[in-house]
Amino acid sequence: MISHAIRITNRLFTKQASLCDRIPAMMIECHENASSSQWTTETASTSETEILGKRIGAELAAGDLVLLTGTLGAGKTCLTRGLAIGWGALEQPTSPTFTLINEYHRARDENRFFHADCYRLSGEVDAVSTGIEDVIDSDGVLVVEWAERIQSLLPESWLHIEIGASRDNGRVFSFTACGERAVELLEKCRASR
Ligand SMILES: Nc1ncnc2c1ncn2[C@@H]1O[C@H](COP(=O)(O)OP(=O)(O)O)[C@@H](O)[C@H]1O
Ligand SMILES: [Mg+2]
Repeated sequence: MISHAIRITNRLFTKQASLCDRIPAMMIECHENASSSQWTTETASTSETEILGKRIGAELAAGDLVLLTGTLGAGKTCLTRGLAIGWGALEQPTSPTFTLINEYHRARDENRFFHADCYRLSGEVDAVSTGIEDVIDSDGVLVVEWAERIQSLLPESWLHIEIGASRDNGRVFSFTACGERAVELLEKCRASR
């Protein structure tokens, strides 16, 4: 039984509108027996989105999974830049569209930060062939753009962030935490400044 589900609306930001129209609405679902919580916040600019990402990134721990959804140009990669910097990555993430998964390291420990972009996947069979399951099972942090494309591979606990549009270049970030660890992570993100 599904306790709640998030409809991913393909809101239009850029001239790629016709492409977005062809992407069907998808759901990311949290199961009834999992603990869950929600939160919404907004940013007014690219730099505010990066700052939000840094706040969340500073709270990320080994094994955390962050699912990003929202259409082309929503700000998934921009938020991920902040997440990686906040986590402590030595390099700034770029879009991994052609490599699917990029890996980052930090100075303080051996932990790893993986950034996956599933935009070009044709389906979950395709996803399996990329080895993303191994990354999901690893003890690194994993951030996934276009996460709705790997739904059947998702474990029990994750933090989903859907990015939508608000007025004047603003963005709305709708968080759903599924599972105990993600609920704890979302609490920390809300409390951080
Ligand atoms: N408030 C905002 N937050 C994030 N990006 C924004 C914002 N306002 C404008 N932008 C612009 O939107 C684009 C987001 O691009 P990107 O992060 O690559 O999107 P995605 O990865 O979702 O396709 C960038 O050109 C960025 O400068
Ligand atoms: Mg992107």
